[in-house]
Amino acid sequence: MNTILDLIGHTPLVQLQRITADLPEHIRLYAKLERFNPGGSVKDRPALWMIRDGMERGLLDRNKIILDSTSGNTGIALAMIGATMGIRVRLVMPGNVSDERKRICRAFGAELIFSDPLEGSDGAIIKAREIYRENPAIYFKPDQYNNPANPRAHEESTGPEIWQDTAGRVTHFIASLGTSGTLVGTGRFLKRTNPAIEIIAAEPDSPFHGIEGLKHIESSIVPGIYDASVHDRKIGIGTDEAYDMTQKLASQEGILCGQSCGCAMAAGMKVARELAERDEAAEIVMIFPDGGEKYLTTPVFADSSRVHYAEGI
Ligand SMILES: Cc1ncc(COP(=O)(O)O)c(C=O)c1O
Repeated sequence: MNTILDLIGHTPLVQLQRITADLPEHIRLYAKLERFNPGGSVKDRPALWMIRDGMERGLLDRNKIILDSTSGNTGIALAMIGATMGIRVRLVMPGNVSDERKRICRAFGAELIFSDPLEGSDGAIIKAREIYRENPAIYFKPDQYNNPANPRAHEESTGPEIWQDTAGRVTHFIASLGTSGTLVGTGRFLKRTNPAIEIIAAEPDSPFHGIEGLKHIESSIVPGIYDASVHDRKIGIGTDEAYDMTQKLASQEGILCGQSCGCAMAAGMKVARELAERDEAAEIVMIFPDGGEKYLTTPVFADSSRVHYAEGI
């Protein structure tokens, strides 16, 4: 019999159809839909790996509280896993994180502490450090930005799944950057398995952006797990571009997803167009970190001018 934790990973890989219709047939784009994890996002993987690692190393047991800073999805994942294991979870997040995310964390029984919205995810990191320092003995701090179990989750699960699902045909891998765990871990596995695979980071093109979950690395506290040697290149994506693509994914592909999926897809289309100009074949795999339900009241979906209605009769 499965438990809810057994459902983490083995997410579906789907081929994009309509947005890519004007590309040559030998250039294909695929999205790995991480929303199919039980907590609804890619972060279930690192959360499970970090918690298991903490237990194995004797740093976490049922008498401790899991404490972390999170822009939302890791919090949801930690809260869900904590609930299944009977472990308390305390989360620090910027006050402006969407209401849906806050409510989901609370539903799983987590306690929330808010940091200054103007300080973004860095403000949450600093506040969580302060809380930890006040009483380190009672906490287990997974510290997703610096915990090697975060990229290891992807090296051991996401990477091998992509390799298997494409039967080794993947030529390009694209992930957006938050903690960088997805890109670094999956990229490491794929590069080691076939060094010809191009690893591409999609990141917001400016420090002040509206793509939830993502970081503009140069202007942020650089995560300890970030390894710039893994990716071959970075592509900057504007907030408007990411939002437009997110809306298109819903209305043209039937994929209701978060803004960081739009960011990865926009980067995927840039790469695809470059390859089309050079007349090269490619199988481009993008990570779609989560679903769109949590963002329905945020500008990406609140503004109906972005909707692309079908043009049939
Ligand atoms: C919605 C969303 N997209 C993308 C990411 C980036 O993933 P990673 O932290 O593995 O870089 C995150 C998490 O940080 C996220 O919550």
